[in-house]
Amino acid sequence: MDNTTQFVLKQKELFTKTGSVTWESPSNIALVKYWGKNPDQIPANPSISFTLNTCKTTTKLSYELLDVPSNKFEFELYFEGELKEDFKPKVVTFFQRIEAYVPFLKSYRFKIETSNSFPHSSGIASSASGMSALALCVMSLEQEINPDLTKQAFVQKASFLARLGSGSACRSIEGPLVCWGKHQEISGTTDLFGVSYPYLVHDNFKNYQDTILLVDKGEKQVSSTVGHGLMKGHPFAERRFEQAHENMSKLIQILKQGDLKNFIEIVESEALTLHAMMMTSLPYFILMKPNTLEIIQKIWKFRKESNTHICFTLDAGANVHILYPEQEKDVIMEFITKELVAYCQNEQYICDSIGNGADKL
Ligand code: PMV
Repeated sequence: MDNTTQFVLKQKELFTKTGSVTWESPSNIALVKYWGKNPDQIPANPSISFTLNTCKTTTKLSYELLDVPSNKFEFELYFEGELKEDFKPKVVTFFQRIEAYVPFLKSYRFKIETSNSFPHSSGIASSASGMSALALCVMSLEQEINPDLTKQAFVQKASFLARLGSGSACRSIEGPLVCWGKHQEISGTTDLFGVSYPYLVHDNFKNYQDTILLVDKGEKQVSSTVGHGLMKGHPFAERRFEQAHENMSKLIQILKQGDLKNFIEIVESEALTLHAMMMTSLPYFILMKPNTLEIIQKIWKFRKESNTHICFTLDAGANVHILYPEQEKDVIMEFITKELVAYCQNEQYICDSIGNGADKL
């Protein structure tokens, strides 16, 4: 059993009175998907993701020591410059979950100012970038209180806290490839936080591209909490969790050898399996839109004709992430703009690539 007590900050005197810190943290896109969880945000299977570079949340946390600790979390929250009361419950839940590990939270009054680099309600999940940015800000305050914290301990605890906000957020602290969830063959992996993928990665995957097609910018049809819940008692869940372990194992060789053909097979299969799980749960959902399928068909046709290594992956929604090697960028971008952009809502898409994780500003 993993030990969480290592993450509890021992009682410290709070000399840090006022200040502020700003972090910029990216989103990430899973290659092997996390879908299904146990209590305390423990994943039902291991996952691995590319950290993104452009899709980011920037969060400034200003803090002021209270004369006496409050009995509730004292904070106001601004999103893109506007006071957002309706975003507060998510932060309260997050603070409740992490309070045992950062017991100073009720001793401060906070102002949280946050914004995203990608359009709001673009259908791009902001929970990974948003929760990781906030977790990092809280950790910077902990660092002020406890200057002995090592860099490694800082990074691990930031990921540990981010996980309690949104599971996939724990994979956004570092890059370019991050694993989360215990896997037999990948050393250092744990259910408690994300770790940088520790083995050799072929140059084929260097600066890999992700062009995100915004097919449907509406509210998510199924929240991820509900989605993960649907895996409980799902008739295919256990086999699916085993498959995720197997796919992670296969990826070790694929990443080492730069084997793009088998990489594509795993990535696309993972995306379709995630959606298949939702089509076969009770209640059942179809999260793709007709245009998602049009895009997938076009990608398959173009891949065959062009001999390129374009492939797709999906989150729990209708948008399509198109992944491809940097050296094929020109021909693939031409295909995307000529043939695929028409299937996007308002012709919107985002050009991103693999990144190295969060930065303190
Ligand atoms: O972090 P959550 O609870 O929003 O779950 C995200 C799950 C997927 O994005 C669908 C897959 C993944 O591994 O990121």
